[in-house]
Amino acid sequence: MLVIGNWKGYVDSERKAKQLVVAAKKLATQYKKVQVVLAPSAPYIGLLSTGNRSKLSFAAQDVSVTSGGAQTGEVSAQILAGAHVAHVIVGHSERRALGESEEEISQKVRLCLSAGLQPIICIGETVRDAEAQYLKVIRTQLSSVMTPLSPKERAQVIVAYEPVWAIGKTALEAVTPDDLTEMVLYIRKALGEFLPGKSAQKVPVLYGGSVDASNAKILLNGTGVNGFLVGRASTDSKEFSGIIKAVA
Ligand code: PGA
Repeated sequence: MLVIGNWKGYVDSERKAKQLVVAAKKLATQYKKVQVVLAPSAPYIGLLSTGNRSKLSFAAQDVSVTSGGAQTGEVSAQILAGAHVAHVIVGHSERRALGESEEEISQKVRLCLSAGLQPIICIGETVRDAEAQYLKVIRTQLSSVMTPLSPKERAQVIVAYEPVWAIGKTALEAVTPDDLTEMVLYIRKALGEFLPGKSAQKVPVLYGGSVDASNAKILLNGTGVNGFLVGRASTDSKEFSGIIKAVA
């Protein structure tokens, strides 16, 4: 099981960042079956990851579409790799909303893989329409990232299904377990077009969107997800530990 805490811009003090890391390290040690990952904002990553010898690992919330050099303000995949980052969230809907294109997302995924970073590719529809056009959205997002990759690279990604309409709401507004089950099957089927059967089954498929300690178990049981990408609740120690316990 994999639980990734995406701090977004919620954590803006070093003290709070360190507190959350201490708590997450304890959880990672205690619940060995759960792989715990934290995604702090860029300036905190090096500070928190240097000398980290615990089971906890770190993710970046985004990566530059460039490979560095004369690129003021950009944080390249190479820079992140040098700061002990292991994974990168790519294509989050909050980045897509700021104009990030499918081509940019695909380029970022390739840069991550070349730098030895594991991309966490976020996909998700903005609305659920009665004609099920949202399934096409998911397929297009997945195929534009997977198509240019080599078979070996395709097997290295993590997919996070994050319906935009469920992000940043309350637990009651998250996806239903039935709809999640259906979507995980659909994503696995779509992955099967890019990877041989067994490898497609091995790609971790996560869910994100208003996950907290109260709904984690319900969203895990029988839905086929391999864990969660948690936003707001990951910045509250009690909620985050509740989620880890629920999936352990
Ligand atoms: P949320 O965010 O848990 O606050 O809904 C999830 C995400 O955007 O990754």
